[in-house]
Amino acid sequence: DVSPSKIAWRGCPVSALKSFDGTDVNVPSVHPSSDHSVMVKIPLPSSSHPPEPHPPSYSDIWDQFHVRMPCSPKSLYPVSEHGNDSLVPRWSIIRRALQKTMKSVKDLQAAIIEYNSRYSEKWNFKGLQYMLEEEFEEEESLHFFEDTLPSMIKLALDLPEILTMPPPLLIRHTSHSITLSQLQIASLLANAFFCTFPRRNAKGGDTEYASYPDINFNRLFFHKEQRSLEKLKCLINYFRRVTKNRPDGLVTFTRQHVSYSELPSWEESSHHIPELHISSTGLIEEMQGLLQVDFANKYIGGGVLGLGCVQEEIRFVLSPELLVSRLFTQVLDKTEALIITGTELFNCSTGYASTFCWSGSYSDETPCDVWKRRLCQVVAIDALHFTHQKKQYDPRLILRELNKAYAGFRVLRGNKGVPVAVATGNWGCGAFNGNSRLKSLIQLAACGYVGRDVAYFTFGDEKLRNDVATMHIFLKENNVTVGELVQVLMQYGQREWSDGSDLYQYIFHSLGSFNSDTDTEEEKNKG
Ligand code: AR6
Repeated sequence: DVSPSKIAWRGCPVSALKSFDGTDVNVPSVHPSSDHSVMVKIPLPSSSHPPEPHPPSYSDIWDQFHVRMPCSPKSLYPVSEHGNDSLVPRWSIIRRALQKTMKSVKDLQAAIIEYNSRYSEKWNFKGLQYMLEEEFEEEESLHFFEDTLPSMIKLALDLPEILTMPPPLLIRHTSHSITLSQLQIASLLANAFFCTFPRRNAKGGDTEYASYPDINFNRLFFHKEQRSLEKLKCLINYFRRVTKNRPDGLVTFTRQHVSYSELPSWEESSHHIPELHISSTGLIEEMQGLLQVDFANKYIGGGVLGLGCVQEEIRFVLSPELLVSRLFTQVLDKTEALIITGTELFNCSTGYASTFCWSGSYSDETPCDVWKRRLCQVVAIDALHFTHQKKQYDPRLILRELNKAYAGFRVLRGNKGVPVAVATGNWGCGAFNGNSRLKSLIQLAACGYVGRDVAYFTFGDEKLRNDVATMHIFLKENNVTVGELVQVLMQYGQREWSDGSDLYQYIFHSLGSFNSDTDTEEEKNKG
């Protein structure tokens, strides 16, 4: 006997939304091609065997189109011995440094500095030290140094046997997929932990990787703020898990670029507004069968290796495999998105931002597709950051957000079946300062256009849930099309004085005579 006002959601139940059934993930199947780099041998071995790398032995590439691998023989490092300067393979220094006995964070830092000597004065691992040597119980700390750390070192140093070719970079204005095994990702991330990636530490406009996120973990080891330590706990749990039981699935990273000629003519669209489930409780990452939105930074992962700890950063530490996208994903442009298919959830957490806390290991039972990819898909789309909120109603910027959402949600040509619903929420409305009443409608329009339904999580905001639910009923009852909705948003934005405060009133007024009556919806939920 739940009174309708206690029900946390409005609209249709989640169970009515289309979710993954294993046949239709809307990303390329795992076949090597000019737009899909597959780093494992295909066909996959039977389910009891782990995937094998492809090619069978390490084959190096050292150029501006591929990840510069720490184990590349072309990666050289200056050493001076007996007064002679010479260049030696950096991998040999890495191997030697990491194979020394390590009993403390000081030892670990000293080893890492051996092949990053330029940073000997700059890097400081006081956060990691605090966590392992003060916050951890002695037993946990011992376990890390005696067990987890040596296994991580092995995982990192086995890189050339685990990943036998450098992955390509996912370069601006191209659409390309990379499929890696979970083990390959783990080995790359172990290398990131030991800060072995060459050319990725230098900062500044003219450095080779200026348009890429950073990948070496040194920054994360610095901060002593509690949220950083909690993020570290997530990562250490991940490494503990993957070194104990080697994971055997695959993950596909797809950069999706939409060219200008492919963009929708929004105002002319006769598509319907999609179905909506909207809830003030629940989180995006709990919606395993839906396309989960990552409220991203254009540098994928945002502040995950620094102090950042909001939706994207939390998502990335709960599923650390997402982090490897930072290694190869160039900054996202206006009509681009990154879609990650198959990632595993390793951690549970509570809290948010400064109250974020690791709350234990998570056992992910999500089923896989035939390519051993978990039926979990995350799409990274970066909203605009508004310093002045009023700016977001500018029709050009509304259009930008529509196109960005389209790049993330669009359905591949020739895709069979009904596209799964999008699990989203206040995209661009926290750190990026947007208005959730506008952004929810932008996302509804984009989903309507591509034929996906929407599960919207308001993160505790009941008023927002009611307002958007009411607006959704209004749009449906008046048979408003995506085109008409976009037109009215654009008209609203053309008024110079529009600041969002009367957005919904303006829509009600422009598109029909509607008596906003929330009871209708509550009656429905009761039934
Ligand atoms: N599920 C549903 N809603 C959520 C969740 C969740 N797990 N977490 C947060 N929200 P924000 P942005 C709601 O600020 O504004 C990062 O640094 C909550 O209401 O993360 O797009 C990125 O790297 C929150 O206020 O996204 C970018 O640099 C709102 O979603 C930047 O932040 C927005 O979350 C993106 O900022």
